[in-house]
Amino acid sequence: MAVTPIAVLISGSGSNLQAIIDAIDTGRINGRIVRVISNKADAYGLERARNANIPTCVIDHKAFDSREAFDTAVQQEIDDSGAQLVVLAGFMRILSAGFVRHYQGRMLNIHPSLLPLYKGLHTHQRALDAGDAEHGCTVHFVTEELDGGPLLVQAVVPIHAGDDATALQARVHSREHLAYPLAVEWCCAGRVQVTPQGILLDNELLPASGFRLPYND
Ligand code: GRF
Repeated sequence: MAVTPIAVLISGSGSNLQAIIDAIDTGRINGRIVRVISNKADAYGLERARNANIPTCVIDHKAFDSREAFDTAVQQEIDDSGAQLVVLAGFMRILSAGFVRHYQGRMLNIHPSLLPLYKGLHTHQRALDAGDAEHGCTVHFVTEELDGGPLLVQAVVPIHAGDDATALQARVHSREHLAYPLAVEWCCAGRVQVTPQGILLDNELLPASGFRLPYND
């Protein structure tokens, strides 16, 4: 099967990017990152990409008059790179409808909650405030509804008595580094199909919550 060209969009540290780079290096993901694009010039993820000899590009959203103009520039860069799969890894921009439609069924995001719970920001504190027993992260396909697309993989973590948002975030973050490479691995292996009925993995319909990675310390 052909190697899937991937574009990764970041705004910050890029630890999920690193997890995907590592899984490509070990041969687990049959993909190649052809571009890392950041809207911030000082994102540490750019250094991770350079260390891995991946071409990088900074497109500063503040240099554009509108969201659409910024998205058009990003889209141009992705398409020029030849990427077939778009991976949002801590990319802190809301995307316009046209951009999302252009990558329908081939753009993934990771969100730090068990969607559909806690769309948006401050997910760890909100899970604590609600008194939840568990929390986690979700890899999902991106649709026009913010944090609302079909769910591919969820990784669950327990919430312990005495947890604060920082401790909980760290526990979730370490599971993101398992969930995202797994989702990208499956997509690059051609094992995932998005259908109107839901996501098929190896032609089997996944539950609406996606494939659940259990927690083991
Ligand atoms: C993660 O918490 C992810 O869930 C959210 O942005 C963060 C990115 O972290 N979408 P990193 O830059 O990959 O370390």
